[in-house]
Amino acid sequence: MKEEQLKHLWWQEGVIYQIYPRSYQDSNSDGVGDLQGIIKRLDYLKWLGVNAIWISPIFSSPMADFGYDIADYQDIHPLFGTMADFDELLAEVHNRGMKLILDLVPNHTSDQHPWFLESKSSRDNPKRDWYIWEDALPDGSEPNNWLSVFGGSGWEWDENTQQYYYHAFLKEQPDLNWRNPDVQEAMMNVMRFWLDKGVDGFRVDVMWHMVKDDQLRDNPPNPHYEPHMATYEKLIPAYSTDQPEVHDIVHKMRAVLDEYDERMMIGEIYLPIQKLMTYYGSDNNGAHLPFNFLLLSLKWEAQQIASNVDMYEGALPDGGWPNWVLGNHDQPRITSRVGSTQAKVAAMLLLTLRGTPTIYYGDEIGMRDVPIPPEEVQDPQGLNMPDLHLSRDPARTPMQWEDTNQAGFTDSKPWLRLPDYFRRINVKVQQDDPFSMLTLYRRLIKLRQEEPALKIGDYIPVYSDNQVFSFIRKSGDSRFLVVLNLSHRPCYFKPKHHKFTGVVVLATFPERENTAITESISLGGDEGILVRLDA
Ligand code: NOJ
Repeated sequence: MKEEQLKHLWWQEGVIYQIYPRSYQDSNSDGVGDLQGIIKRLDYLKWLGVNAIWISPIFSSPMADFGYDIADYQDIHPLFGTMADFDELLAEVHNRGMKLILDLVPNHTSDQHPWFLESKSSRDNPKRDWYIWEDALPDGSEPNNWLSVFGGSGWEWDENTQQYYYHAFLKEQPDLNWRNPDVQEAMMNVMRFWLDKGVDGFRVDVMWHMVKDDQLRDNPPNPHYEPHMATYEKLIPAYSTDQPEVHDIVHKMRAVLDEYDERMMIGEIYLPIQKLMTYYGSDNNGAHLPFNFLLLSLKWEAQQIASNVDMYEGALPDGGWPNWVLGNHDQPRITSRVGSTQAKVAAMLLLTLRGTPTIYYGDEIGMRDVPIPPEEVQDPQGLNMPDLHLSRDPARTPMQWEDTNQAGFTDSKPWLRLPDYFRRINVKVQQDDPFSMLTLYRRLIKLRQEEPALKIGDYIPVYSDNQVFSFIRKSGDSRFLVVLNLSHRPCYFKPKHHKFTGVVVLATFPERENTAITESISLGGDEGILVRLDA
């Protein structure tokens, strides 16, 4: 659909920034980030130019999965602060004209949640059916072959009531039974609680997991499984995820959001493009933004990425708004995946593609995955599968603010260690450096906000080969050409069917800026340029 036909809302025009709250800023010297810490850094975020902040879970939790195991959806964990701190944060975010998105974890609760404690207390407890309880097979074995994402079986035996319960993640994270209307109602009320406070939206955890096959059929084996993969990959989760009924649930959640003004819902969904699209819902009555993780999962190869961008664009439903993600708290950091010079090209890609970008905290200064010695590993995924290098800790280390002790994150021992080089790679040293990653991010965000072509304009593919990816963004008469070299070696780009003239307005090597583009374009390795085309 042409951009002129749409009215654009904040979550379409804006840039989202993800904060992993344990690691952003500590304010009370316990080595763990908190809400007052985030408040202290809001001016930085305003300066950076982002429009919305998504905060990973901050609710009451035994922290078996660092907050993704919630024991009370309507209370703040004391590690992060109090409800008064939250109210202050929300007000301060809004005072700065920004939006706040919370993490909603509806697929599972903590095993310490009162709902589960009741549910497991007896077979005839009214909340028994709020979770997925099943008898053992006649030989005593598990109801089916479903596996846990974090390793081992997805079923846990309860000695007391002599049944198994299902958990897609840790056994401390029992899955709710979303086929039960009371569960639905309870979670919708959780949403209303935060929406009534003025929260602007939710990032919904593992949205595609929420409903399971009602016959609990066995998952088929994955023919592509290899021993270096997580054990969960042994099977294709055909019956434990992405069931048709999930769309009714997503639609109901959307209806709750629609009771309010301009609120939004992001769905965390790791699925191929065609399946991902179904989460927009029929007539766009599903998630506003089903997270698009293509840039996380594809090989960093120009042609691959270009063709997938085109496929994604082509597959979007009418009126469905695109979005792009380069990193999050579950994935290796982009700088570690592609290298620090190429990470600048990645930043340019993220912030020039059509659709809402989400930036993971620290990526804007080129933070790398930090090696965590085995005895310091905290992430359950890493601990459960120690030989597979799956710990997510390296991408969750404290934000590197400055070159003082503990990088300005805390004045005690941080919960995860900092890298030795934080004195060189931090916000403070990059803030005034015209060649830094931070400056590049800030300038890209600013240009994107100022130029409708980049913010909401059409996407027009131009050319790709095994090094270059090039496209145009266009709004009215204003056109920008983006040319990215996704390889480390120089390349040469002579568009066959186009004649481009214009001026480079932003470049990963800023020396290139203000130069004219005429016939052909040569790029150095790891170079990306943004050209304002002549009208
Ligand atoms: C997805 C979250 O992003 C991840 O951090 C968490 O471990 C699982 N869901 C389980 O909630």
